[in-house]
Amino acid sequence: MVGLSVGEALIEGADRLQATTDTPRLEAETLLAHTTGLPRTTLLAYPERRLDPTAVHRYRALLDRRAAGYPLPYLTGHVEFYGLDLIVTPSVLIPRPETETLVDLALAHRPRLVVDVGTGSGCIAVALAVHLPETRVYGTDISATALRVAAANARRHRVSNRIHFIQCDLIAPLFGPVDLVVANPPYVAAGEWADLPHSIREHEPHIALDGGPDGLDIIRRLLKSAPRILRPGGALLIEIGATQGQATMDLVHALWPSATSVIHSDLAGRDRVLEVQW
Ligand SMILES: C[S@@+](CC[C@H](N)C(=O)[O-])C[C@H]1O[C@@H](n2cnc3c(N)ncnc32)[C@H](O)[C@@H]1O
Repeated sequence: MVGLSVGEALIEGADRLQATTDTPRLEAETLLAHTTGLPRTTLLAYPERRLDPTAVHRYRALLDRRAAGYPLPYLTGHVEFYGLDLIVTPSVLIPRPETETLVDLALAHRPRLVVDVGTGSGCIAVALAVHLPETRVYGTDISATALRVAAANARRHRVSNRIHFIQCDLIAPLFGPVDLVVANPPYVAAGEWADLPHSIREHEPHIALDGGPDGLDIIRRLLKSAPRILRPGGALLIEIGATQGQATMDLVHALWPSATSVIHSDLAGRDRVLEVQW
């Protein structure tokens, strides 16, 4: 429609997204900013500004997709993680705030050489390289398309020279010794699949989520293999599902009785990261 103002478009967008999200107004602002190329602050400062019909058409098309459950970051192509603006596409899992707990723990180790297994968008690898300017990172993933996104994020944050991305199964081609292995692996159990929000189940890559019958397939394999490349005293940090703390501790005790292990909570107080030290 000709002559729609910014303010009117935002009211329309918030209304359209009411049933989709807890933050309809914010998401409408984000989509209008993405459509027009204007910062959100400018939109808010000039609500009377007229939008051209092409922009209105594109904005409404995005609202339709978002209202149908398509994830916002896939529409805008961006997400913020650990204070960094990252590129995301439907080839990668959308980085989650819970994973920032894993980054905090990894930074505290101050590793010189670290492997990020299942790097996806590269969010963990890039955050570590940005915050540890002396550190070198290997980022592995089975998905070639995910690795292209990770490489773009490393370039965007000027850390490509210290991150080496490798397409492989877990850590198969790597040799040690490394100081730290980190991973946010697929850990959704078969029985949890039906309970996942529609937007995740339908739109995020299954290979990034599917942890096999009990959700622990990849975690189990990584627990077995990581010590091969870790230096003595090296550590493994694995993000886990909130209900997997006890099961993963039991796995460690069965596989590596003399290793030290602990479960760390996320900001919401849920079990989130398994740490094992050999
Ligand atoms: C939960 S996502 C995590 C992505 C990213 N690290 C993050 O925290 O947002 C898991 C990633 O592991 C990758 N993956 C799955 N199976 C793998 C395997 N056997 N070897 C290496 N990577 C694998 C997926 O492609 C996906 O990118």
